[in-house]
Amino acid sequence: MKIGILNGGGDVQPLNAVISSIVKSGVHDGHEFIGFEKGWEGVLSPMLYRTLDQKAVRGISHVGGTILGTVNKGRFAAKVGAGDKNKIDDEILNQAKANLEKVGVEALIVIGGDGTLSGALQLADKGVNIVGVPKTIDNDLKSTDKTFGFSTAVDIATEALDRTHTTATSHDRVIFVEVMGRHAGWIALNSGLAGGADMILLPEMPFDYKKIVEFLRMRKETGYRSSVVVVAEGATSKEGFFVTLEPAESTQKQEIKLGGISNTIIHNIEKMAPGEFELRNTVLGHVQRGGTPNSEDRILAKQYGVAAMEAAVNGDYGKMVSIRDGKIVLVPIAEAVAQLKLVTPDCLEVHTAKRIGVFFGS
Ligand code: F6P
Repeated sequence: MKIGILNGGGDVQPLNAVISSIVKSGVHDGHEFIGFEKGWEGVLSPMLYRTLDQKAVRGISHVGGTILGTVNKGRFAAKVGAGDKNKIDDEILNQAKANLEKVGVEALIVIGGDGTLSGALQLADKGVNIVGVPKTIDNDLKSTDKTFGFSTAVDIATEALDRTHTTATSHDRVIFVEVMGRHAGWIALNSGLAGGADMILLPEMPFDYKKIVEFLRMRKETGYRSSVVVVAEGATSKEGFFVTLEPAESTQKQEIKLGGISNTIIHNIEKMAPGEFELRNTVLGHVQRGGTPNSEDRILAKQYGVAAMEAAVNGDYGKMVSIRDGKIVLVPIAEAVAQLKLVTPDCLEVHTAKRIGVFFGS
């Protein structure tokens, strides 16, 4: 078979490991591979692609980023928020289908999060044979237990929190660390738990400014010299506004760029309790998506790569490979993108953190 490989959306550290294992597990059976560059843009005219053979994927599994490049915007944008779907222009979908036929692609393996896979679904509806592979550091895809990239991101954020603790204590400071997580706070929750955060603020659990100030005062009064707070970029106060890096109206057809919530919180605390706390801010940003994948993510990526190749050969189209309870299962892409996996206030991690005194902002 001639199989196309495409990754879309934000990069994650183990993407090359997936690409390499798809190719390595298929070349020996005589299958051929084309890698489309820059996400969906690569299948649109003018096409951007390259042949992927054994040599092309040699030595890339432990290298972060993606040899194919990626974009999370453009003509194929299919999702703009937690649930908002974009209908991709018919002309664009038809062009992608015709281009894939032109280069002889019989099945397309699409590695992506809910945005990229929502696009894949619309192309599958046009009759293109598609196998999905779940990818996002946010770990917010409902139909799979884990997405690759998440574990490495949590490791990076945990190390940042460890480092923040020592300097916060030296200076008697309250330091905020903002991490990724648009709609789901899994990175903040897991790194906060592992890295001993005193407060964790999540998109799913809106916070109360008054209660935050009270908590910080209580810590000071009971002898704690410092506090470390981890904040997901999509966290909101009870009043409920996302803090964005650009005006909302300029991003209507794309995902809003989040960022700055920790800074906003600091300003508001300073207004409510002037001079009471020495506040500092750290925004981790894309550091969380870059660099070497950890061993757990490399293994997960390889499992997904091999499973996707098997699904393509078996003709399991319109499905996404998932891991549930340690086993590979195939889930309809439509089901996989229907709903995000969000933190719930009664989940084990929140329960554990609360029992050891972590405050969730309300
Ligand atoms: O969806 C994954 C993610 O890492 C989000 O947590 C974050 O908001 C977004 O990507 C950032 O994307 P960009 O590469 O556009 O800055």
